[in-house]
Amino acid sequence: MKENYKETIEKLKKYKQNEIVNIIAKKYTEEENCKIVEQLKNINLEQVIELYKNAENIPSIDENKIEHIQYTDLNSLSNEQFKEYKQIGIDVIKNNKYAVITMAGGQGTRLGHKGPKGTFKIDTINGEKYLFQIIVESLQKANKKYDVTIPWYIMTSEDNNDQTVEFLEKNNYFGYKKEKVKFFKQGKVPMIKTDGNIVIDQNKLIKEASDGNGSIYKSLKDAELLKEMKSQGIEWIFVGGVDNILLKIVDPILTGLTIKENNLISSKSVVKKNAKEKVGVFCKLNGVPKVIEYTELPEKMAEDIDENGELLYGEVNILSHLFNIKALEKLAEQKLPYHTAFKKSNYLNEFGEFIEVLEPNAYKFESYIFDGFSFFDDMSILRVKREDEFAPIKNATGSDSPETAVKLYNDYIERNKN
Ligand code: UD1
Repeated sequence: MKENYKETIEKLKKYKQNEIVNIIAKKYTEEENCKIVEQLKNINLEQVIELYKNAENIPSIDENKIEHIQYTDLNSLSNEQFKEYKQIGIDVIKNNKYAVITMAGGQGTRLGHKGPKGTFKIDTINGEKYLFQIIVESLQKANKKYDVTIPWYIMTSEDNNDQTVEFLEKNNYFGYKKEKVKFFKQGKVPMIKTDGNIVIDQNKLIKEASDGNGSIYKSLKDAELLKEMKSQGIEWIFVGGVDNILLKIVDPILTGLTIKENNLISSKSVVKKNAKEKVGVFCKLNGVPKVIEYTELPEKMAEDIDENGELLYGEVNILSHLFNIKALEKLAEQKLPYHTAFKKSNYLNEFGEFIEVLEPNAYKFESYIFDGFSFFDDMSILRVKREDEFAPIKNATGSDSPETAVKLYNDYIERNKN
């Protein structure tokens, strides 16, 4: 331990982590020191400091290198195309080559729900339902239709894994076959304050936050799930968010289109509501597919319109993605870029005092799942109707809230009654 301790202190000094060095030396018991030394073994300090140095460098977007992305509008498919794509997709599903991943590692801070977002309950015309329950219902409907049991993988984070597992156990997986449900945890990265010191949490350990949904590729591999999928013959994996209550999790058309277009990745899109909507938009940058996140799209570009009067960057990412297993394998080996968010984070100062902050003071680093798209020359995009497939729950009130989402959900149920 002594050797490790010395080494750790040296390493911390090298990266100018004076706050933590002081606190360890003056305030920690031997046991607490052991814990932090142990934690630091798994932290790549060099990488964190590099991220810190670049935290304020938001990559600028060169408009000259951006083009529209080609998309297929579901509503303009001919009858023949529709039938053909559907049949191709159905064959995939019926032959047990299809799996579903739900990304549920987010914190849902904006919604203000205490607990994993999937455990949030809404009141619909079909009764009260948890978000996880809605996903199970979609899966069960497809299972019945295609006479299969689709494997369901759930990405959680260190912060919410236990609660998520416990919740689904307690609710008996809402009737889903337990053997067909697997959890895997995403990665984490330390948060760092604007002064360059890593955040120490109230529990006296370094505060590591979830590293974004782009963690999915590596985390799947680390959990040996890509291997498992392959051995089971799974070829197509649908990946969706946890909070869109109209998400179509099992859609043969998307699968058929992707196969027909000879792509390894596809996504669904809807038309952007207005320039201010907080969504990512598809485009091509330097000839490859890309999503520009709302936090990074300059206001002027968000307002640009094309010759038809439509928003130029108006093809919305609704977090409805499909991957061939080969694409996931390739992406598990790539390094995705990190994006920086500026957040409030309480911390222990060098005297061991707990400081509660009112303003953002620390950087959080996240990779985004869609940055994986740029490793491919092309992908299929299927534009669908917003009212049929996009009812996100993001905020407690106002837009994209339980109220707006439930209205969209109820209207959809009413329209599709017969
Ligand atoms: C996301 C998309 C955005 C899209 C919008 C549509 C990303 C990075 N952004 O934005 O382009 O237009 O949804 O609703 O995908 N998650 C994790 N781990 C994390 C962070 C998030 O699993 O570390 C999961 C969440 O649980 C959720 C999904 O990823 O299911 C989206 O996360 P969220 O933070 O809600 O993304 P948005 O900002 O809404």
